[in-house]
Amino acid sequence: MKDVYILGIESSCDETSVSIVKNGFEEIATVTNTQIDIHKEYGGVVPEIASREHVKNVTIIIEECLKEANMTIDDITAIAVTYGPGLVGSLLVGIEAAKTLAYVNNKPLVPVNHMTGHIYANNLTSRMSFPLMALVISGGHTELVYMKNHYQFKRIGATLDDAVGECYDKVARIINVNYPGGPTIDKWAHEGNDTYPLPLPLNDNTYNFSFSGLKSAVINLVHNEEQRGNEIRKKDLACSFQNVVVEVLAKKTMKAIKDYKVNNLIVAGGVAANKGIRERLESDCRKNKINLTVPEFRFCTDNAAMIAASGYYAYLRGDRADLTLNANSSLDLDK
Ligand code: KG4
Ligand code: ZN
Repeated sequence: MKDVYILGIESSCDETSVSIVKNGFEEIATVTNTQIDIHKEYGGVVPEIASREHVKNVTIIIEECLKEANMTIDDITAIAVTYGPGLVGSLLVGIEAAKTLAYVNNKPLVPVNHMTGHIYANNLTSRMSFPLMALVISGGHTELVYMKNHYQFKRIGATLDDAVGECYDKVARIINVNYPGGPTIDKWAHEGNDTYPLPLPLNDNTYNFSFSGLKSAVINLVHNEEQRGNEIRKKDLACSFQNVVVEVLAKKTMKAIKDYKVNNLIVAGGVAANKGIRERLESDCRKNKINLTVPEFRFCTDNAAMIAASGYYAYLRGDRADLTLNANSSLDLDK
């Protein structure tokens, strides 16, 4: 079969990213501009600012990516673009850029769900084997997804309230850590001790998760300590918090793997960068002889290589969009 080169565009949140991936697994070039420093001072992503930054950057990044790949648009088989879930104003910038590129150059336009991108980030590290269980953990999502084969997504459990990344960011904020707080909490967790008692949230037999109670428990703990005039040992709190998160994620994931009789686990989404979660799943999977794949760090957070990788399989199965393609901020995985 002829090689397929997908140019992927990702702009669902605060990263403008363009990538070219060959045959769904070989990264040729990726150029990403992150706006983290701009949003930092507001404590979170400001949608209006994010859209404006995407507009400013997207065309330049497309050009840079082609240049880095030493390719022209003629070498590209199809254009893949994230159309949801995410911030509407941000998504629309990528969508309009992709539509224009596809229309002017007469290329197929392939719509990609951002969450499938996070899952297919694993394909850039090692080829996905089926059936598999995917633990999708990001700033907006916490889901267990069963996949019988490519592009067959069955969501078997999800968070009932906050996403795990959102919980990390909120806990970080309580102890005055800059957005996004996940990486700092993760680092501190490895430097502190588990000394603060925190409840294991939704410790039941379902595959669902809940993180808002844990967040409230941390807020109450911090307030109580402050009222007593005690200083918060931030590294110990980070460690205690992370241990609870890791315990509940690992417990439910391993149960899902057992119940669905799969031998392959992949972890996806920005929180997949978490060292505590990686270490625990590595150990549990080793014990249970499960093949574990976690994307490279740079493919864990939002990037277009994962969109191009997912876009390749979407392209093969004939997914196409026309110029009416619109953003869908709450796009579901199993739709
Ligand atoms: O997937 P992503 O880049 O964006 C979304 O689609 O949501 O995930 C961003 C989230 C943020 O909440 C960030 O704090 C979290 O991933 N994150 C981490 C780590 N690195 C990023 N959370 C915990 N530990 C980390 N090392
Ligand atoms: Zn994401």
